[in-house]
Amino acid sequence: MPTLAARSGSPARTLRVNTQSPYDVHIGTNILSQAGQILTGDGLAPSKVLVVTTPVIQALWLAEAAKGLEGMPWDLAVIPDGEVHKSLETVSSLYDTLAERRFGRDSMVLALGGGVVGDVAGFAAATYMRGIAFAQAPTTLLAQVDASVGGKVAVDHVRGKNLIGAFHQPASVLCDLAVLDTLPARTYSDGLAEVVKTALIGGEEFLAFVEGHVAGLLRRERPVVGRVVEDCIRLKAFIVETDERDLGNRMLLNLGHTFGHAIETSCGYAGVSHGQAVAVGLAMATHLAVLLQEAGAGLLRRIESLLRALNLPTMVAELAISATPEELRHHLGADKKRREGRARFIVPKAPGNIVVVESVPEDVLRQVIEGSYSGVPASSAGPHGGTPAHHAGVLRGDAS
Ligand code: GLY
Repeated sequence: MPTLAARSGSPARTLRVNTQSPYDVHIGTNILSQAGQILTGDGLAPSKVLVVTTPVIQALWLAEAAKGLEGMPWDLAVIPDGEVHKSLETVSSLYDTLAERRFGRDSMVLALGGGVVGDVAGFAAATYMRGIAFAQAPTTLLAQVDASVGGKVAVDHVRGKNLIGAFHQPASVLCDLAVLDTLPARTYSDGLAEVVKTALIGGEEFLAFVEGHVAGLLRRERPVVGRVVEDCIRLKAFIVETDERDLGNRMLLNLGHTFGHAIETSCGYAGVSHGQAVAVGLAMATHLAVLLQEAGAGLLRRIESLLRALNLPTMVAELAISATPEELRHHLGADKKRREGRARFIVPKAPGNIVVVESVPEDVLRQVIEGSYSGVPASSAGPHGGTPAHHAGVLRGDAS
């Protein structure tokens, strides 16, 4: 397991991620204003930095980052806000900026923003001149606890989310906890959906901590949020270190995302946020686990009530979605986790015990989807036995 240790001379705590090219994740308050010092401390000396951000983050946090980068040559590229702009078109605009302003192979891209900025800027960095250095300064809870670590960079395609992408590990990650204070409530709770996912993968202790600190999390109490961010990153780093290229256990991090991605794709990446989709996806994956007799109904009650306590949806019926159940079912088939033409589902048996199932009977899938459209939470919709699906193959076990 990676270790968290105070870094001498720096207020940030650092967590090393031991991928093929190892890097540090720095977690602290107001560390954006020390960005250059931290990057230099990580041994990075780029000839020039392209800061990629959005208009909203530019207004809120660029001044802090600029203060931090003083003395380091940097330039700015502002891309539009929103998942609909996680596209090759936006990446192409960054290639234009990099080429026109003569960024060389020894330059660096710094993503200052949420998951979309990290994905788009990271994909541009992974491909410009066959790959230049890339650092992340995530400004959403969602990006801090998940997207900014692990090197997955991608853009969406009409046929699937994150369909075009690369693995390009960052050279450094700066998680400034102060940025979370300015997040709109909805954006903040989007990150809490990934927190619930990670806690469920992490195990009983982590899940119980989140359940026991709902009020502190909603009030954004710094010690509670800081601990949760650290624990999420520690778990993510551990999984990524053991499966950097997503060929095995890393797939478990996609718990709730098979349904979640189908929801997002079916509404054209607009109207439903990634966090909302993941929250509903977590409830659907847990319902599926119950119907497959992998998990007990108690786990479904627990996950649904935690999501609700964190102001997150648990049903498709709560989302602004025009897609029909049939359309959602269709998009489930397009998920990247397919193997040999079959959709695979990641489901929880218990906290810390996540499995991958395939060959899920069609009637069971339909029951999950229709239940989520019904407006009645699955945990209060009556018996959960459903159709026993003994032929669902469990491919992989414990994530702990
Ligand atoms: N967000 C899932 C992963 O990085 O593998």
